[in-house]
Amino acid sequence: MKKVFIETYGCQMNEYDTELVKSILTQHDYGITPHEADADVVMLNTCSVRDNANRKIYNRVHEIRHGRTSPVLIGVLGCMATNFKTALLENKRLGIDFIAGPDSYKQLPTLISDVENFGEKQFDVTLSEFETYSDVSPNRSDSVNAWIAIMRGCNNFCTFCVVPYTRGRERSRSPENIVEEVKKLVADGFTQVSLLGQNVNSYRHEETDFTDLMRVVSDVPGVKRIRFTSPHPKDFPRKLLQLMAERDNICKQIHLPLQAGNTRVLDKMNRTYSKEEFLDLVTEIREIMPDVSLSTDIIVGFPTETDAEFEDTLDVVNQVRFDMAFMFKYSERPNTLAARRLKDDVPETEKTRRIVTLTDAQRLIFLEKNRALIGKTMTVLIEDSATKKSSTDVKGRTDCNRIVILPQGDYDKGDYVQVLITDATSSVLIGEKGLLSAS
Ligand code: 5AD
Ligand code: SF4
Repeated sequence: MKKVFIETYGCQMNEYDTELVKSILTQHDYGITPHEADADVVMLNTCSVRDNANRKIYNRVHEIRHGRTSPVLIGVLGCMATNFKTALLENKRLGIDFIAGPDSYKQLPTLISDVENFGEKQFDVTLSEFETYSDVSPNRSDSVNAWIAIMRGCNNFCTFCVVPYTRGRERSRSPENIVEEVKKLVADGFTQVSLLGQNVNSYRHEETDFTDLMRVVSDVPGVKRIRFTSPHPKDFPRKLLQLMAERDNICKQIHLPLQAGNTRVLDKMNRTYSKEEFLDLVTEIREIMPDVSLSTDIIVGFPTETDAEFEDTLDVVNQVRFDMAFMFKYSERPNTLAARRLKDDVPETEKTRRIVTLTDAQRLIFLEKNRALIGKTMTVLIEDSATKKSSTDVKGRTDCNRIVILPQGDYDKGDYVQVLITDATSSVLIGEKGLLSAS
């Protein structure tokens, strides 16, 4: 039996796709190994969203090719495959044997055997309007949270983003198929599911929209926590807010990518909402769910963004007080509208200054918000038996997705524990099993 080692880069969708690839390969009599050195085939599931990624992959391919004494086939999967296509194979120094885009994973067994049988490089980077992998059950590596991709692709064409080009058009799985998967997961012992899509508000299957889907998933007996990511602020469904407020098993947590706080920059990004519309949406969300936890993505230094316009982003951050934020310097992606039409004209030093300013502001906010939870008792789902730093602590998450560290005790992975929060940093809560009236 040939053994395959897969390394994953980038977003949660890529992590999920790797689970699909493992499932497809094991059905075709390949073994999966956690050790690169044992593998006959090494695959890198790649990302193209920001720079560095490409260079990192070229270095990895070089390292794998030259670090081996036995022969190995090397394949590149994911967004770099659809982004660079056969140029990746033509680069002789790299020595990549096959490439497969995000919609071609069912072809992997054929691609590998064709490389072996014909001694020629193979590729399939076709994007599909239909492939949802609804017939493939992912080979899940986590036993506490199950990711479920409910839709794939994106039609939004934000001008900075390469995803619509690398992952193609939107398509959604049927609600029946998703509910079936959720029921199987519950039977396998999962109590938390996270619905995943590049753009979940766009989920639509015949008459079923995203809120309808959330309702039927929430109705499945045994599901204790449902999360979803990512919605788009331009058309966040108001009826979903009502449903979230009504249902105990839908986590009061929303990832709401802001990207920029200035309306002119948002327009240049093709985000189709203004600063005021974003702030109004946040107000509405908090009116319906006062304790909701909000996270976001922000890009600094988008082409033509002035210092004064960046101040609008800082202003939104200070007004909203997000519970978590992922912040990025703009990096030009080939083919995108921004790359074709706008010069990457914000100097690197200025991008750095803006990201540092934002990070400092956010760190203070995180610390204040986390410290406000000291003394509260919260329900924590235990995820890991021990943290990397300590073999005596365990890690879990609250409903609002905050990480909690607590001492090992009479609880295990997958258990829900009432935890008294005793301390906090800007990134984690520290707690102990609820000694005070946990209920
Ligand atoms: N440059 C910087 N950040 C980007 N993102 C997407 N494309 C780019 C880019 N070209 C960020 C966005 C998105 C997150 C997944 O990555 O904030 O929400
Ligand atoms: Fe990219 Fe915008 Fe689609 Fe998100 S919504 S994947 S940022 S194009």
